[in-house]
Amino acid sequence: MDAAFWHRRWESNEIGFHQGEANALLVRHFAALLLPEHARIFVPLCGKTRDIAWLLSRGYRVVGAELSRLAVEQLFEELGVEPETSASGPLLRFAAGEVEVFVGDVFDLTAAMLGAVAAVYDRAALVALPAGLRERYAAHVAAITRSAPQFLICMEYDQTTRQGPPFSIDGAEVTRVHGARYQVTELARAALEGGLKGAGPVQETVWLLR
Ligand SMILES: C[S@@+](CC[C@H](N)C(=O)[O-])C[C@H]1O[C@@H](n2cnc3c(N)ncnc32)[C@H](O)[C@@H]1O
Repeated sequence: MDAAFWHRRWESNEIGFHQGEANALLVRHFAALLLPEHARIFVPLCGKTRDIAWLLSRGYRVVGAELSRLAVEQLFEELGVEPETSASGPLLRFAAGEVEVFVGDVFDLTAAMLGAVAAVYDRAALVALPAGLRERYAAHVAAITRSAPQFLICMEYDQTTRQGPPFSIDGAEVTRVHGARYQVTELARAALEGGLKGAGPVQETVWLLR
């Protein structure tokens, strides 16, 4: 799952992970973070998720990070806004109104470039990463957000039925990668609508990290 893998997925439009509407668990449970109005939310590995449109509609400000420029161009097009672009270190920053996205490798994003955020929204980011990369990702996101609380959506299924991504990540794995920095609480779980190709039953889970 190197950069080439994800660029190929976007170029060939193999984006089965993309949901046409805001994630139902986000909509139902995000208030549990108890954020102030207009809070700034970091969405790592954001793709062109409709969750950004939902967060904006709730009055939040959003800052994303995404490897694929194609994805980010589509994101802004689907939001119906024309972004301004500027260089930010090795990354490219797209911005319009209350939304900005850094295009490039999230590991090149620094706390200074990101600025202050009140929370992290991770859906299909941690589960997109192979086990060997998860701790580095978790430590990096905590470092650049100064351990801002996280609303984390994962999936659980029998990993022997199919290969990731998305990978099955249970509570023990969430605690392995995040437990040193956060108190981990399970907020909700629900059957994943439509399931996952080749997998048996799939549960979507929501974790609050504080
Ligand atoms: C499974 S998709 C999830 C996208 C989005 N969160 C959603 O819910 O639709 C994972 C995304 O992470 C991006 N990605 C993978 N590795 C990355 C990295 N090192 N830095 C930034 N983005 C990355 C991919 O291009 C892809 O769009």
